[in-house]
Amino acid sequence: MTQARHFLGLDEFEPAYLRRLLEAGWVLKRAGRPARPAEGPLAGRTLMLLFEKPSTRTRVSFEVAMRQLGGDVIVLNASDSQLGRGETPADTARVLSRYVDAIMLRATRHASLEALAQHATVPVINGLTDETHPCQLMADIMTFEEHRGPISGKTVAWLGDGNNVAASWVQAAAQLGFRLRLGMPEGVTISERALGFARRKGAAVELCHTAEKAVAGADCLVTDTWVSMGDEPGKNLACFEPFRVTAGLMAQAAPGAIFMHCLPAKRGQEVTDEVIDSPASVVWDEAENRVHAQKAVLLHCLAPAALP
Ligand code: CP
Repeated sequence: MTQARHFLGLDEFEPAYLRRLLEAGWVLKRAGRPARPAEGPLAGRTLMLLFEKPSTRTRVSFEVAMRQLGGDVIVLNASDSQLGRGETPADTARVLSRYVDAIMLRATRHASLEALAQHATVPVINGLTDETHPCQLMADIMTFEEHRGPISGKTVAWLGDGNNVAASWVQAAAQLGFRLRLGMPEGVTISERALGFARRKGAAVELCHTAEKAVAGADCLVTDTWVSMGDEPGKNLACFEPFRVTAGLMAQAAPGAIFMHCLPAKRGQEVTDEVIDSPASVVWDEAENRVHAQKAVLLHCLAPAALP
């Protein structure tokens, strides 16, 4: 059996191939909405969107991307399916592979994604796990480059929790050659797997325990909610307070620095209204770019010959 063309993590590809997918995303963005989607490269193909956690952007952007490429979509929430009642990811993969051409999973546990991918005979896409969020990073890199030019050699400052999005930023830094400063409170951890990958690649990833050190001269400040889906209730948030993205922190970054956030934002917590609503904020472009980046991911999985 030929291995299906999954999209599970940024660490699984050659940097040049990630660059190729990013360039494809750009071509697809410039092409705009197709006049005749029914004649698109994914006509007759069906994508399953399977969610163990809530979503707005991932669900809608994948659905729009697939339909604009000519394909069809089925959405299933785990709570409405047997996956939510204990059917294993492996058995789910075997069954769904008989019905659809690709599966996107948003999983509570990364191990579920790996099991699904191991047993599926169709491509599996990581739509966020507790460890990583690679589709988000494809859109984030597109957005950075849209506003600040090639990311290679630039400096990005992550502020806040060491969550799944932060881990994907670490992998992206290692693959695409930019400096990443992780501004996180002492005692807050980030994926050892992602850090180990960065170390092996000799990436410029630095842990900073003050926000000021992380943002000094940075080209981009990026953050996410301090409470991720699946976090324990009652998580101590006081330690994150100095890492809130404020106008004062933005002023310490490089001239023309941008602000990014994968959304949803908890306004007033990890970022002030003043920053997220400022001209430096590119969060709406970032959300839109999910569609364009994911078109490239879908073509990688289902029709690589059609990648522009
Ligand atoms: N950024 C992101 O993945 O958004 P959703 O949780 O709304 O899909």
